[in-house]
Amino acid sequence: MKATIAELPKYVDKEVKVGAWIANKRSSGKIAFLQLRDGSGFVQGVIVKSDVAEEVFQTAKSITQESSVYVTGTVQKDERSPFGYELLVTNVELIHTSTDYPITPKEHGTEFLMDNRHLWLRSKRQHAVMKVRNEIIRATYEFFNENGFVKVDPPILTGSAPEGTTELFATKYFEEDAYLSQSGQLYMEAAAMALGKVFSFGPTFRAEKSKTRRHLIEFWMIEPEMAFVEFEENLEVQEQYVSYVVQSVLKNCQLELKTLGRDISKLENITAPFPRISYDDAITFLHEKGFDDIEWGDDFGSPHETAIAESFDKPVFITHYPTKIKPFYMQPHPEREDVVLCADLIAPEGYGEIIGGSERIHDMDLLSKRVEEHQLDPETYKWYLELRQYGSVPHSGFGLGLERTVAWISGVEHVRETIPFPRLLNRLYP
Ligand code: 4AD
Ligand code: MG
Repeated sequence: MKATIAELPKYVDKEVKVGAWIANKRSSGKIAFLQLRDGSGFVQGVIVKSDVAEEVFQTAKSITQESSVYVTGTVQKDERSPFGYELLVTNVELIHTSTDYPITPKEHGTEFLMDNRHLWLRSKRQHAVMKVRNEIIRATYEFFNENGFVKVDPPILTGSAPEGTTELFATKYFEEDAYLSQSGQLYMEAAAMALGKVFSFGPTFRAEKSKTRRHLIEFWMIEPEMAFVEFEENLEVQEQYVSYVVQSVLKNCQLELKTLGRDISKLENITAPFPRISYDDAITFLHEKGFDDIEWGDDFGSPHETAIAESFDKPVFITHYPTKIKPFYMQPHPEREDVVLCADLIAPEGYGEIIGGSERIHDMDLLSKRVEEHQLDPETYKWYLELRQYGSVPHSGFGLGLERTVAWISGVEHVRETIPFPRLLNRLYP
């Protein structure tokens, strides 16, 4: 019977055949242990010399790291392994011999591993991070589908710049100038007026010269947008969604979280509601903590975000930022011109901002004024302004950065390990 490693629990005491790679190997004169991986999981294969044909034991003994094989064996329960099962091997058929695999079980530097990202992905830790990423994506679709949202795909090649013009990847669109999308939001607003509640999931691009553990040049964003939803309800959707994702990972990625050494107790209490703190109060709090480098009107840097997050054991919303440091489309506070109806969601444990969101301006005159103030070309935003001309409604939305969320939930230090092939300031290879 052909089986994958993940399926082995169904075949206890039965004989199965598994296609696998040799992740690692150890042997003595009488017994060999093969660490097998097949993408679905990792399992130890045990070969006892006296139980198999001589050439089978010799193959097992001489096999090299990352060689590919078909292994036949009997599935056994094994309480000592994290997976809970092992394979008592009766036959090993070599498919392809791997020579001089560069990533050995010893320690390697990050730059070396990044140069070998196409191979590094095979390692147990990277495998676990990719599985967590996949679970977050799966739970995202599940959450939004169950809550009446429609998936909509905004374009990647655009003429507009929702988040400001300084970080755009420009490209030629035949004779015209175009940019790689830095956010699908403006298009999602059009979609919300057609479909009510919508969400997108796709790549976004920021030509940001930032070299931090939170910044990628190309990252994936989930962008929900909702008609007839105002500021507070927008936050409620966010806390429900983030809690749902964390609880799904806890339920479906137990083995992966164990492999990553994640402190599960820090994730278990991530349930809605999340605390909220206003920008004004956050500034006061930072001054009390001795941060003299920040004044009202400044944007937070990561030390500030971390200091605020540290006083909560759940993600925290920082609300009502100054109008002048936020994008042109945000709805002003009804009683205050100087702040907007927005919130950033800051993850615990120093992982920083995972969501940016707001209520959007739905008044045509005010939005036109903002386009002008931000020196944006009214022709480019003509279609966006027209959304306010035909039955304009209050609406809100947000964007969750997938890689920062994966980093937080996995407990991985740097976002470069949370995407298969990271695009970093100095890296386009592999
Ligand atoms: O706060 P941002 O820039 O918000 C927007 O783009 C809105 N238009 C979203 C919306 O309301 N539909 O980005 C949203 C999130 C951030 O909170 C962060 O998690 C992630 O995207 N992000 C990045 N992740 C990795 N690398 C970068 N350079 C990122 N820039 C933003
Ligand atoms: Mg932001």
